[in-house]
Amino acid sequence: MRTSLCDKLGIEHPIVGFTPSEHVAAAISRAGGLGVLGCVRFNDAADLAKVLDWMDENTDGKPYGVDVVMPAKIPTEGAAIDLDKLIPPGHKDFVERTLQKLGVPPLAGEGRAGVLGWLHSVARSHVDVALEHPVKLIANALGSPPIDVIDKAHEHGVLVAALAGKAEHARSHVANGVDIVVAQGYEAGGHTGEIATMVLVPEVVDAVDVPVLAAGGIGTGRQVAAALALGAEGVWMGSYWLTTAEYTESLGESAMQEALLGATSSDTVRTRIYTGKPARLLKTKWTEAWAADGAPQPLPMPLQNLLVAEAHDRISRANDPAVVSMPVGQIVGRMSEIRSVHDVMSALLRETEQTMARLRDL
Ligand SMILES: Cc1cc2nc3c(=O)[nH]c(=O)nc-3n(C[C@H](O)[C@H](O)[C@H](O)COP(=O)(O)O)c2cc1C
Repeated sequence: MRTSLCDKLGIEHPIVGFTPSEHVAAAISRAGGLGVLGCVRFNDAADLAKVLDWMDENTDGKPYGVDVVMPAKIPTEGAAIDLDKLIPPGHKDFVERTLQKLGVPPLAGEGRAGVLGWLHSVARSHVDVALEHPVKLIANALGSPPIDVIDKAHEHGVLVAALAGKAEHARSHVANGVDIVVAQGYEAGGHTGEIATMVLVPEVVDAVDVPVLAAGGIGTGRQVAAALALGAEGVWMGSYWLTTAEYTESLGESAMQEALLGATSSDTVRTRIYTGKPARLLKTKWTEAWAADGAPQPLPMPLQNLLVAEAHDRISRANDPAVVSMPVGQIVGRMSEIRSVHDVMSALLRETEQTMARLRDL
């Protein structure tokens, strides 16, 4: 199975995998897809530089990409300390009361400062570090990257992708110089729009003249074949890698993976509680507390993430499958065992071929 995207990106299979784990990203690239490392968690660009050095040593010379988060419309600068003053005390009380009610203990030491990767200054530092490495693709969530960032990537021979939840967004990405559009439907894990993948992908394919990757709800070869049938040149998958053995290698055994393995496709919710923008998360006692009567409205990005950053640390240390805060898409219903990235890729490719053969015989 080859499409024009394979030549463009120098990959064997048109399967692109977004992941926050370098172990998973490297394994996707080694398996012939394109591993794309999510950079938003790196508050310090020096840490990203070390991880990309590791990627260079562990991808067998195969291409890989990075994903940065430059939201089109948020306050772009500001030290965490100033932003912290904008968080209403009532919201902090609610978070503390909820954690106590859910039996999530305080941290023994210091928590994290919160994710600062949404700030343009930090995301730009990610781009600068990435361009010192042999990355093939820089993708941006939540809008087109600024035009000077696109130009800089192009000067380095690096392609630029951007996620789109509407055909209108895709048109504006291409007008800004974006090379590849990721059409990401409502089913997807993480930040997501309101249009389902089945409707969105052909709309975006018809709206732009650059390759389109289909995203949202993909985890089987039948879904890959469907994406190609809808006109996509390949797929972009995020959730499915969360239950790979390489993800366990990054995190250690976790209640989060246990919770994902037990979830059905009904067990997700689209909510603003993770970052302030609508994102699909696993439905747990934490998301339910925010949906209950009397809970405050989530704050806008980037304040909401600063509000819940320490709570996220506490929740992950408590390691309770009933209280998890994790982005995941509706495809979670098919994530029922831990497998290696290699096995996931082989199964996807095998089923895609079988599906295409079955369709040819109709
Ligand atoms: C845990 C998780 C974190 C994500 N974080 C980001 C991110 O930082 N940047 C981004 O562009 N997309 C992010 N996404 C969205 C993915 O890139 C991808 O579009 C989405 O997962 C595709 O749908 P699927 O979850 O059904 O595979 C995230 C998704 C998940 C599951």
